Amino acid sequence: MPKIAVLGAGSIGAYIGAALTHAGGEVVMIGRARMAQQVAEHGLHLTDLHGGAVSLAPQQVHYSQDPATLADADLILVTVKSADTAQAANTIAEHAGAGTLVVSFQNGIGNADTLRAVLPHHLVLGGMVPFNVVQMPGGRLHRGTEGELVLQASPAVEGWQPLFASAGVPLQQRDDFTAVQWGKLLLNLNNSVNALSGLPLKTQLSQRAFRRCLADLVEEALAVLAAAGITPAKIARIGPQRLPMLLRLPDFLFTRIAAAMLRIDPEARSSMWEDLQTGRRTEVDYLNGAVVALAGAMGRDAPLSRRMVQMVRAAEEGRQSALDGAALHAALHAAGR
Ligand SMILES: NC(=O)c1ccc[n+]([C@@H]2O[C@H](COP(=O)([O-])OP(=O)(O)OC[C@H]3O[C@@H](n4cnc5c(N)ncnc54)[C@H](OP(=O)(O)O)[C@@H]3O)[C@@H](O)[C@H]2O)c1
Repeated sequence: MPKIAVLGAGSIGAYIGAALTHAGGEVVMIGRARMAQQVAEHGLHLTDLHGGAVSLAPQQVHYSQDPATLADADLILVTVKSADTAQAANTIAEHAGAGTLVVSFQNGIGNADTLRAVLPHHLVLGGMVPFNVVQMPGGRLHRGTEGELVLQASPAVEGWQPLFASAGVPLQQRDDFTAVQWGKLLLNLNNSVNALSGLPLKTQLSQRAFRRCLADLVEEALAVLAAAGITPAKIARIGPQRLPMLLRLPDFLFTRIAAAMLRIDPEARSSMWEDLQTGRRTEVDYLNGAVVALAGAMGRDAPLSRRMVQMVRAAEEGRQSALDGAALHAALHAAGR
């Protein structure tokens, strides 16, 4: 049976890996001691917003901390955070067979290119995970939102589609994958707003002052994308072009018109907030930083995202505390930054 390896099996990787295992796939999840311990004690338990539930006992999960288990994989799913991609690429180069299909299921721009640069003899495809997964006690992984996995179109994907579909994580192939990635990135611009708010996502998005910050960041990114000739794909129910206007609505209108955007677990937070709490490097360079880089490549500036990168970096170093919406808006627009 073809074998799948998930490299960096944390929230997303362990969720997809467990779903594929449950559907009968031969899967090895490769990750760190903390997750290995969780799996050994509790197994893995997937729940979702529709009440779906899948349980795997510890002995049903193949979780390894040894990258040598990549050796006989036919498909490698890379699910490390962006800052760890270069190291993951070296691990694949060292242990995987030549020609293994590699898929980056990561947020941000540039991860697939980082993998390609180190893995010239592998087919590397970009992928996009539209849904959110949070780790909870007892080996539980909760999927809080919906959507299908999207992959850069390739004939190499065809054979894998039945397994992913029967696992409840169907693969959608898209020719316009760059547009898909940027469409997702626009939504991920809220990660830094949420991280600096210090609030649960639902509380933060319910406050117009924070939504204005996000609207300004999205609008700036849309202008940069337009200048670069990139039309971002519609990932959520609301298309990218309408997003800033909608976000700026007063609270009483936003909560009615954009009720779907607020259908979030009350305690859910962005992973960037979690990264700050646990002292890990965030993905801000691959999100807001990607907007700044694209603008820079055209001799332009993206001052709001540039300022956001600075503030999140300061927060990573413990020099920036949480801000309310008005203070964050003022800081983003501060003159001379
Ligand atoms: N979580 C979500 O809801 C979500 C949704 C859509 C997209 N994404 C994207 O998916 C990617 C993964 O996010 P995530 O939330 O699943 O991250 P995560 O929970 O931190 O999982 C990644 C795991 O990989 C481990 N790791 C790092 N380098 C490794 C290596 N070389 N070998 C083995 N394990 C390694 C990390 O361990 P250490 O941290 O201990 O090094 C961590 O446990 C990110 O790009 C994220 O933006 C996430």
